[in-house]
Order: sequence, then C-alpha cells, then structure tokens
Amino acid sequence: MSTADKIARLQGLRVEATLGGGEKRIEQQHARGKLTARERLELLLDEGSFSELDALVTHRATDFGLADEHYLGDGVVTGYGRIDGRLVFVYSQDFTVFGGSLSEAHAEKICKVMDMAMEMGAPIIGLSDSGGARIQEGVASLGGYADIFLRNTLASGVVPQISVVLGPCAGGAVYSPAITDFTVMVDGSSYMFVTGPNVVKTVTHEEIDFEGLGGARVHNETSGVAHFLAAGEPQALLLTRRMLGYMPQNNLDPPAAAAEWNPPEVGPSDLDTLIPDSSQRSYDMHRVIAGLVDGSSFVEVHALFARNIICGFARIEGRSVGVVAQQPEVLAGVLDIDASDKAARFVRFCDCFNIPLVTLVDVPGFLPGVDQEHRGIIRHGAKLLYAYCEATVPKLTVITRKAYGGAYDVMSSKHVRADLNFAWPTAEIAVMGVEGAVNIIFRDRIEAAQDPSAERARLIAEYEDRFANPYVAAARGYVDEVILPSETRARLVAGLAMLEGKRQSVPSKKHGNIPL
Ligand code: HXC
Repeated sequence: MSTADKIARLQGLRVEATLGGGEKRIEQQHARGKLTARERLELLLDEGSFSELDALVTHRATDFGLADEHYLGDGVVTGYGRIDGRLVFVYSQDFTVFGGSLSEAHAEKICKVMDMAMEMGAPIIGLSDSGGARIQEGVASLGGYADIFLRNTLASGVVPQISVVLGPCAGGAVYSPAITDFTVMVDGSSYMFVTGPNVVKTVTHEEIDFEGLGGARVHNETSGVAHFLAAGEPQALLLTRRMLGYMPQNNLDPPAAAAEWNPPEVGPSDLDTLIPDSSQRSYDMHRVIAGLVDGSSFVEVHALFARNIICGFARIEGRSVGVVAQQPEVLAGVLDIDASDKAARFVRFCDCFNIPLVTLVDVPGFLPGVDQEHRGIIRHGAKLLYAYCEATVPKLTVITRKAYGGAYDVMSSKHVRADLNFAWPTAEIAVMGVEGAVNIIFRDRIEAAQDPSAERARLIAEYEDRFANPYVAAARGYVDEVILPSETRARLVAGLAMLEGKRQSVPSKKHGNIPL
C-alpha cells in the first residue's frame, strides 16, 4: 500500500468514526430534537480545543449477531479539551450507536479519560445519552459500569465531576451521575430512573410515563437528584461551562478569581430597609444575595428543590464563594429534611474544593411534625451540622434575622468554627421564638395574673427586649460584630481577603462517619 493509500485509509476511518451509527440514525437523533455526541462537545468546549482519544475502538462481543456489527468509537466520544482555557476531560455518549449503550469497550474508554483526569488534576464532564447496559454483552457491561462507579467515587473530592443527562439514563447507570458533584438535566428530553414505567407497573401497579417517573422536572423539583434544569441542550452545556468557572481544577488548587466584576444589583442602602418591621413577615433573601455579590454572578444550585434554603455559587470582588441562605419566603426558611440534605451536600462540595462559604441566616428552627420526625429529621439535620463542623474553608456568617434553637448552632455558628460571624441589628438570636418562650417559662405567672393577656403582652415585650436581638450573643463574642446591612459587602470583602491564607485541620482519620 502506498503512503498516499495509507493516509487515505486513515482519513476514511476518521470519516467513518465521525458518523457514529450512520447518517440515518444521526437524522433520527436530530428529529428527536437532540444533538449528536460530537455536536454537544463542540458547544461545551472552547472552539477547536477538543482532542479525541480512542476513536477507533470497537467492541469485542460476538453473541447475538454482534460479531458483524461494529461502529468505530463504540458509542462514546472521549478525550480532553478546554473550557475558558482550562483543561477538562470529557466523554459524550453517542445514542446513534446501539442507543449509546455501555459495552465493555465503551466503559474502558470512559475509564481511560477518568484516570487521565485524576493524574492531571482536571475536572471530568460526562454527557449521558444511553439505553444503559449493552444487553448483548451481559455481565461484561455490568462490570464496566462498576469500573466507572469506582472511579467516580475515588475522584470525588479530588476533581470536580459534572454529569449532563441529555437523553435516557436508566437502571444502574443512574449511579454515576448520582455520585458526581452536579447533575444537569434537559426539560422534556432527559430522564433518569432505576426501573422504568413497565417494571413499575408490574411491581406496584402504578401507571406513569417516562416524564412523570423520572423527567427533568421531577428530579429538579421533587427528588433532588438533579441540580439544574435546562430549557434545551445548548443551555445545559453553557450552564456547565459557567458553573465550572467557580470551581478549581482540583482539591489542591484555589478557585480562580475573576479579574473584573460588576457592583451588586441591589444597592447598599436598599439592604438597610429590606427587613420588615414585623418578624412575622417575609422578604426575599435573593435580594440580600443580590446586594452582597458581584452583579449577575449568582448561579443557583438546586433552584427548584427545597426552596426554603438557597444554595449557589457567586463572586465577591471576583472571589468565588458558595452561598447558603434561608429563604423566608418559602416555609419561613425553616430547616426540613430536604433543605438539610441540599445544603449539606453543597457545603461539603465547597469544602472539598476550597470555596469559601458565606452563610446568611434567617431560620425559625427545624420543621416540627410527625412526618418529619418519622422520616428522620434528626438524621438529616445532622448532615448539615456535620458538614458545617467538618468544613475548614473560610466560613463567614451573617445573621439577618432569626437564629433560633439548634438551627442557630447548625447554621455556621461561631461554635462550629465559623471564622467571622456578623449580625444585623434586626437579628433575633434565642432558644425559641418570643411567644413560645413566654408561654412556656411564664405560664404560671400569666395564668395567675388579673389580666392574663395584658400580662402576656408585657412579658413578650420584656423578653423581646432582652433576648430577641443580637446583643446578648455579641456580648459573649458569639457574634464578632453587629453591622449595618449596608456595610455587609465591605465586611465580607475584607473578611475573605483576611481569610485567604486560612489553614485549619481536622484530626487524622480514615474518614468520618457522616450521618447518612
Ligand atoms: C443494546 C440498545 C440498548 C441496550 C437501546 N439499544 N438500548 N442496544 N443495549 N441497552 C439500541 C436499540 O436496539 C436501537 O438499535 C437503538 O439502540 C435505539 O433504540 P430505540 O429503542 O430505537 O430508541 P428509543 O425508541 O428512543 O428508546 C430508547 C430506550 C429503549 C428507551 C433507551 O431503547 C430502551 O428501553 N432500551 C433498553 C433499556 C434497558 O432496559 N437497558 C438496560 C437497563 S439495565 P437500532 O439498531 O434499531 O438503532 C441497566 C443495568 C445497568 O442498564 C446496571 C449498572 C450497574
């Protein structure tokens, strides 16, 4: 064969690999409103930055007629590229080849880039669009999944891992996204479930479709399995690019600071008038966040799940921070099971990756109720407590209003090694709400009074004066400084700069035993 022929052969193979399962199946993919594996990588990565690996890999199966059916790449495009100039490793499942199903060879390709990402200390982004285990390969495929799950687990806390689900993701396959740090789903075209509608119907006699069982909305709003809901594939991929900007390459690096920033969208003087006179009335904590962080820098995580707590990434004078904040507008910002789980996982992510935590507190306590108690609010609330206790990143806390009971301790209090604790003059730091407290400790006195309701009102006012403020905590140094709302951003800026060199350790151990 001449050199020219050899070059032509390679070029031919490359064209073949690029076509995946062939033009007809690419058309079908487009007809479903979906992009191909390669088109997705083009949107995700900096232009022209993708270097492919293993484009010529094929499966080795021979059963069920597979000996004669090979596609170059075997249903997944893998390699590395850049996002805003930063190295990332990627895999993108190709639904046009055996429905993106995972064969032994397909899994080996994914494992190869995961291993490289660990050696290079670079994030891993997986784009899923797969019918699950390659049915014809049986246990070899199951083994391939387990090889990926193991790597997901070993990489956890070492390099950021993001899953973007852009089609089916069913059966045991769901456990890879579940172990990764963040999962993005696309409204209307992606779904995740352990067992599909047919099996559900057989076992529990429930009738439900794919969307209702495991669609993007279900997992963003109800189960909390997904963290981001995108309107379409381009949005999902752009969001992934943006999210990565707040994260470091790995656990040994700090996150990169932005060189330029915009002022907050809400001005300082507006913060001074934001808290209502009555502590029974709500306000939108998003406005507080918008008054503290660089303009338009806030990216909310789990925006549709457990909305009584807000988690998200932001920048403060260019520095990347993780924000955790109660939302008084939803369930009065109470801590319940879902809110505890949501915030605990976010706090742990930030701690893994050296992202300082800014916590805004307005919490009436843990949610009372038989349902919450029986479903384990103790166990779940403990996750958030554990996460804050364990976190050694800079922790800055601002109590905007209520900080009651155990929730005061949990929410990045001084006692769990927060570094800087501020309170606004509107803060109420006490064991419980005023009325409940007075009813308990002064019950006899109220009952014995000539005018019980006047006595109750007098005692409430007295208690409010004495305890429902930040000054008792400030007198003990549990609050480092009582500050005006309008001063808060400046204090956070100075605090983050002061804490840049923070070094704090936890006792040496194999790993802790977080309540699960
Ligand atoms: C081999 C598969 C496949 C699979 C799909 N295909 N899934 N091939 N193994 N798991 C092939 C189809 O034969 C078809 O090939 C092509 O992919 C497209 O599939 P369609 O069914 O035509 O597409 P669509 O109608 O969109 O349906 C998509 C689907 C469906 C819902 C994903 O294909 C499906 O239900 N597949 C089986 C899903 C499943 O049960 N997987 C195993 C789950 S258990 P042609 O040649 O016609 O293009 C599992 C265990 C993992 O995954 C355990 C890990 C621990």
